[in-house]
Parts: sequence; structure tokens; C-alpha cells
Amino acid sequence: MAKEAAFSCTSCGAVHTKWSGRCDACGQWNTIAEDTALSAGPGKAALGTKRGREIALTDLGGPEAPVRRTVSRLGELDRVLGGGLVPGSAVLVGGDPGIGKSTLLLQAAALFGAAGLKVAYVSGEEATAQVRMRAARLGLSGAPVKLAAETNLRNILTTLEKEAPGLVIIDSIQTMWLDTVESAPGSVSQVRAAVHELVRFAKSRGSAVILVGHVTKEGQIAGPRVVEHMVDTVLYFEGERGHQYRILRAVKNRFGPADEIGVFEMTGDGLVEVANPSALFLGDRESPAPGTVVFAGIEGTRPLLSEFQALVSPAPAGQARRSVVGWDGGRLAMILAVLEARCGIPFSGLDVYLNVAGGLRVTEPAADLAVAAALLSAREDVALPARTVIFGEISLSGALRPVGQTETRLKEAEKLGFDQALVPERTKTGDSGVRSRKLPDLAQLVGDMFGAG
Ligand code: TYD
Ligand code: MG
Repeated sequence: MAKEAAFSCTSCGAVHTKWSGRCDACGQWNTIAEDTALSAGPGKAALGTKRGREIALTDLGGPEAPVRRTVSRLGELDRVLGGGLVPGSAVLVGGDPGIGKSTLLLQAAALFGAAGLKVAYVSGEEATAQVRMRAARLGLSGAPVKLAAETNLRNILTTLEKEAPGLVIIDSIQTMWLDTVESAPGSVSQVRAAVHELVRFAKSRGSAVILVGHVTKEGQIAGPRVVEHMVDTVLYFEGERGHQYRILRAVKNRFGPADEIGVFEMTGDGLVEVANPSALFLGDRESPAPGTVVFAGIEGTRPLLSEFQALVSPAPAGQARRSVVGWDGGRLAMILAVLEARCGIPFSGLDVYLNVAGGLRVTEPAADLAVAAALLSAREDVALPARTVIFGEISLSGALRPVGQTETRLKEAEKLGFDQALVPERTKTGDSGVRSRKLPDLAQLVGDMFGAG
């Protein structure tokens, strides 16, 4: 086989099949040189010398119309999707078994159906009778949704090619199998191949595809992270068992902000969206108890107030316990260490429990100061002043760092009846009805709370 074009003009880049003295593309003389092979590693040709087809390069601005999203009118769901469902997008919804993924997606299916999308719900986990029972319980028996119970992806894709729905829901990706892949359903190679086929279907047909994925004990959607890279949007459906609140969290979204959350309540008649999550996560607060602190946080694009609760008690001889729900254990250890090293307040010999009320999970470092205040308040058995919110990041030196979106945080606090904020020095507070007490470092917080330096 003859070798393909291996010469190009060093001046204009035109490709030639043979050497000549003058480039007939730009007219320059003595600019044509032989191409050396692209190499991958020492002495290894990756692509060889065979040239590819030239692709058109274009501008960032273009005439394309903005994507037309479909809204479900379940506001919390639309928000997490980035403002509605994008045609041709692939969405992965992960979560622990039993958290309510099938319930959420059946409700979403009915709503998107009512919004005019042709919706197909394919269950690989439950028989049609079971899905119908859930639909009846949710009052959705009459919803415009097509239902199938199937796990063979070849059959599913053949059906979808013919039916051309605008939205396909696959519950769950772990149950799907391809007859061309040898391993068992749920294995990494099956899951990966199934996601690949479904994403290809979504892109080629412009159908949105929502995939349900169970989370493994290690907290990953089975078929490791690789599935997350293959889809446009990854949502996690979270909640504490025993709590009725559920949070849908965007951890990746090519069509909207990541870290956005939607808040729902699981009721006897399915999931109901929670209109004012701050009020919800504050629970029934009356007077502040020792160990409780209100953190003015930001989740995605909106402010969210939540309550941190700490309990500090003498540990039985031996190991002191550190137990955290809703916050990072490593970060708690860091704050305990800073309190000890910079403020001289030891926690050794004490059990420490930290909890975010309502089953919320907070990841912002801005909660550091709230955690520290809750720990101090619990340890000294002194309640913080009433109607006070706290936020700020703590550095290892014990200094406090201002955090972003302070005015949004303060506005939300004001809306909910708070009138004082403990914040780091240099925090921009704007003109807010909330009085800000600015603290240079953690020692100042200790001094404020207990009247000593
Ligand atoms: P499900 O959607 O089946 O969870 P997943 O698909 O994530 O495994 O929901 C499981 C739980 O939700 C189940 O324990 C029953 C409860 N549930 C309600 O409380 N209210 C309802 O209306 C429905 C349909 C379910
Ligand atoms: Mg399910």
C-alpha cells in the first residue's frame, strides 16, 4: 500500500502529496518539507504519517438558537437540571436503594409527559404491575407515559428507534445488558457499554435519556466514575434514612450550574417540593440551646440556612469518639486541632458529636466558623445570642477568611428574622438589616463567647 501525503508547507500549512519547490497554495518558494510522523513515546508512531481530513474551525458566536428546554413545573427538579430538561441530554440520577429514585422519576415522567414530551419509562427492576401500583399510589395512573419492563438493551433500543420518544427513563442502568458483552448485568463492562449505547441514542435522536444508577457502598455509581464522564448531567438523590427530606443535588451539569440542590419531602403520596428550605432546615427553633448554631450557607445559586448541632461529653477512658453527620469528618478534626493549638481549648478526653439538622449535607468551608462556634458552645454549655447567624472559613493559623456571596447570605438571614451575624473581618456586608460582628480570628470568637481572650 502506497504511503499517503507526507509533505506540507511550513508557511501556510497546505498539505502536498509530493515535494515541489514552490507551494501552489501560498506561492512561497522552498517552504515545503517532509512531515515527520506523530509519535507517541520513544520511537513509536501513533497515527503514522497518514493525514486526516481537515476539519472546519468556526467562531465562538454562532447563529444557533438557544436550547429549548422542557420544564416539568416541578420547580425543584427544573432548577437542578439547570432550568429544565435539554433535548438529547443524558442525565444520571444516582442514590442509595430505597431513597426514592423510582418515585421521583415516575413523577417526573408524568410531568414531562403532561408538558408535551413523549415519555417512555423502562423498568428493569420491577414488573409492570409493580410500577402501576406505584403510579396508582401517586395518583398518576392516567398520566401520558409509556411503560415497559425489559432489561435487554437490544430490544429496548429497537423499540426506542421506532417510537422516538422525547424522554426515555431507564430504571436502572445496572439491570441492563447487551448480548455483545460477555459479563453479567451490573458488571462494569456491561454498565459502561449500556450507558454508551443509550448516550449514543440520545445524541443521535435528540431524545433526553435519564438513567437511574444505584450507588455502591463506597458511594459510587456502580461501574465506577466512568459512567459519570459519559453523561452530561449527574444528579445525586440523597437523604438520611428516617428523615422525610430528600435532596437532589447536581454534581455535574453541562447545561447548568453544578452544586445546585432541589429539596423534597417524601410523603405518603410521593415527593412534594419544599418551597422554603431554609425554614425547613432550621426546624422548630425557639431559643438557641447550647451547641446549636445557625449557619448561613449557599447551595448552588441560592442561600440556605441550616442548623449545626454539637454535643461534647466526657469520654470513657480510652478512645474519645468523633462522630459527624452531614459534614466532613476530616474538616471537623482540623477545626478541633485549630481550637486546641490556637485558642488553647483542648477536646482530648471528650466525645464530640456534630450533626447538621434535617439530614442536610454541607460541604462549604464557609461553615468552619459555625462548626467552631457550635463546638465551643457545646463544650462550655453556653448558648449563642438569639437570632444570630454565623459563617466564615478558618485557616490553620486560626485566622478567619471571608467567604463569597456574603450579601446573599445576610439577606436570607434577615428574611428569616435574624438580626446579627458573626463573620470574618474584611467580610463585605453591604447595607443589610443584619448587624455584623466582624472577627479577626478564632480567639476573638472565644473571647466574645466567654468574655475572655
Ligand atoms: P423508591 O422510589 O422505590 O426508591 P428507589 O427507586 O430509590 O430504590 O422508593 C422507596 C421508598 O419510598 C419506599 O420505602 C416507600 C417510600 N415511598 C413513600 O414514602 N411514598 C410514596 O408515595 C412512594 C411511592 C414511596
Ligand atoms: Mg427503584
